[in-house]
Amino acid sequence: MNSQLLIHTAQALMADNRGILAMDESTPTCDKRFAKLGISQTEETRRAYRELIITTPGLGESISGAILYDETIRQKKKDGAPFLKVLGDAGIIPGIKVDTGAKEMAGHPGEKITEGLDGLRDRLKEYFQMGARFAKWRAVIAIGDGLPSRSSLEANAHALARYATLCQEAGLVPVVEPEILMDGNHTLERCLEVTEEALRNVFIQLNCQRVLLEGMILKPNMVLPGLDCPDQPTVDDVADATVKCFLRTVPAAVPGIAFLSGGQSGELASARLNALNLRFKTRVPWALAFSFARAIQLPAMEIWRGDEANVTAAQAALLHRARCNQAARRGEYTAAMERDLE
Ligand code: 13P
Repeated sequence: MNSQLLIHTAQALMADNRGILAMDESTPTCDKRFAKLGISQTEETRRAYRELIITTPGLGESISGAILYDETIRQKKKDGAPFLKVLGDAGIIPGIKVDTGAKEMAGHPGEKITEGLDGLRDRLKEYFQMGARFAKWRAVIAIGDGLPSRSSLEANAHALARYATLCQEAGLVPVVEPEILMDGNHTLERCLEVTEEALRNVFIQLNCQRVLLEGMILKPNMVLPGLDCPDQPTVDDVADATVKCFLRTVPAAVPGIAFLSGGQSGELASARLNALNLRFKTRVPWALAFSFARAIQLPAMEIWRGDEANVTAAQAALLHRARCNQAARRGEYTAAMERDLE
C-alpha cells in the first residue's frame, strides 16, 4: 500500500477550503432528474450536461475533486478532449463511484445492502490506471419503526470496510459514505442516535479490515430530523448535534469529513455547513467539508434544461453554489451571498 500517496490525495481533497463535487449519479438516477425537468434521457444529453459541469470556468478554485460515474469517466468533450484531461487541467482530482447500488436486503424488509464487491479489485486497478485517485461507496440506512436493524448496520459497515481496504491497495482514497436518509418524521435526537450507531459500526469494521484512517475521507449525513418531523431545528442546533455525534465516533486520524447534502436545498446545506465551521472549525481534528451532488447541481440543471443557449447561465449558478460552500468552509457564508447572484 502506498500510504504517502493516499495521505497526499486525502489532504489535497480537503485543502484550500475546497470541496468535492459529486456528479456520479447512476444512469437511472440522472435520467430521473432529467425527466423531472423535461430533458431528454440519452447518453448524449448526459454527456453534454457533464461537459457543462466540468468546463465551468474557475470551478477548480472551489472544487478539489469530482466523483464520476463509469459512463462519465470514459467520456469526452464535443471537441474530443477526454473529461479526465479537462478535470486535470482545471486542478480537479477525478474520483469514481464504484458501488453498484443499494439493493433490498434479504430477510430485512425496508432495508438495503450495497453491492459491488465482486470483481472490485480489477475495476479499481483500471480506474487507477485511467487517472482516478479516489473512489466512493454509498451505504443507505433508513430510520423507521424498528429500523435500522443491527444486522443491516453491521452488513453495510462490513461492505464499506471491504471496499475501503481494496481502494487503498489500489492507490485510491476511499470516500466512505454511510447515509442515514432524511425520509420520515423522526426527531433530531433519533437521527443522532442512529448516526452514532452507524458510525460506530463503520469504524469498528474499518479498523478490523486495516484501513489507513489518514488515507480516507468520511462522507456522512449531517445530523438532521426527518423531513416530516414538525420540530425543525436551527442551523446551530444541527451543528451542535452533528459535531457531538462525530466527536463520539470519528477518530482524529481521519483528515476530513465531507458531508453529503441528502436532499437539502443548496442554501440550507451551505448555511448548515457554515454553522458547523463557524462554531467548530478550530476545535475539531478534521476538516468539515462538502461532497454535495444535488445541493450544488440542481439550480444549474434547472437553468440548463437541455438547451445549449442556457449553458453559460447554468455554469454561473453551479459556480455560485460551489463558492458559497467554499465560503461556508471558512465560516464566512452569509445569506447576502445569495442576493449577489441576482
Ligand atoms: P447528495 O449531495 O445529493 O445527497 O449526493 C451526494 C452523493 O454522492 C450521494 O451518494
